[in-house]
Amino acid sequence: MELHCFKKLLPLQVRTQLANQFKSLRKTVACLTNVNKFYGEGSVQVKALDNLNLEVFQGDYLAVMGASGSGKSTAMNILGCLDRPTNGTYKLNGTAVEKLDDDMLADIRNKELGFVFQQFHLLQEISALENVMLPMIYACVPSIERENRAKEALNKVGLGNRMTNLPNQLSGGQQQRVAIARAIINQPSLLLADEPTGALDSKTTEDVLNLFDQLHHQGITIVLVTHEDNVAQRAKKIARFRDGKVVEISQN
Ligand SMILES: Nc1ncnc2c1ncn2[C@@H]1O[C@H](COP(=O)(O)OP(=O)(O)OP(=O)(O)O)[C@@H](O)[C@H]1O
Ligand SMILES: [Mg+2]
Repeated sequence: MELHCFKKLLPLQVRTQLANQFKSLRKTVACLTNVNKFYGEGSVQVKALDNLNLEVFQGDYLAVMGASGSGKSTAMNILGCLDRPTNGTYKLNGTAVEKLDDDMLADIRNKELGFVFQQFHLLQEISALENVMLPMIYACVPSIERENRAKEALNKVGLGNRMTNLPNQLSGGQQQRVAIARAIINQPSLLLADEPTGALDSKTTEDVLNLFDQLHHQGITIVLVTHEDNVAQRAKKIARFRDGKVVEISQN
């Protein structure tokens, strides 16, 4: 009998216990606890995050949704160590990030985190290959290995024949695939994507989502912000933000 059929026969209480036990076996990659983030001061102060709690487990593929201004990018920037909480704790693979100095943060960003943004953020004056090699320079990977790994990554995202092109010689979807190759080149424990398909047409969106599916199946932990239901449906879980906190987490 298929496992899922077997599970349906179990009483709810037993299923819940099993689910909780399974959950406790999964490693927590990122954990935000009671995180607040304020921008500005006095009468112009904005509370972007309001006692936010969010746990990301190894192998998760989590979509983050919510109205504009609900704090999604602020949370992503904190998860990605691009910004710090005003207060509260952020643990990345068990390390309390708020205790690290700027150099240590830069190191952790390079080794543990990969980013994909709506506007790609590739360096315009260097080739696709050089863009993908860049994070390995900061990680002190020897040059031959840098080039080999970058070529392999670009082949994997289907751009083996466009490696020497500058970003502006590539389509939006191709640029985003270069950005994804760059984001995963140091095998990060967490891949963060803030509206990665926001600037893409539907065909190119599909290509990029197929790539995220592949990465998820390879075991990469993904958190992806989107406004689009069809994009969120491709993830395994959806966290809904409202007014700087998570108001619902659902399984797909
Ligand atoms: N650097 C900043 N300075 C001041 N206020 C900011 C700053 N960044 C964000 N905010 C404010 O914090 C709140 C949350 O912004 P955030 O960018 O996290 O929202 P979001 O959910 O990502 O929205 P969108 O879907 O439009 O991208 C908003 O009210 C925004 O105006
Ligand atoms: Mg945003």
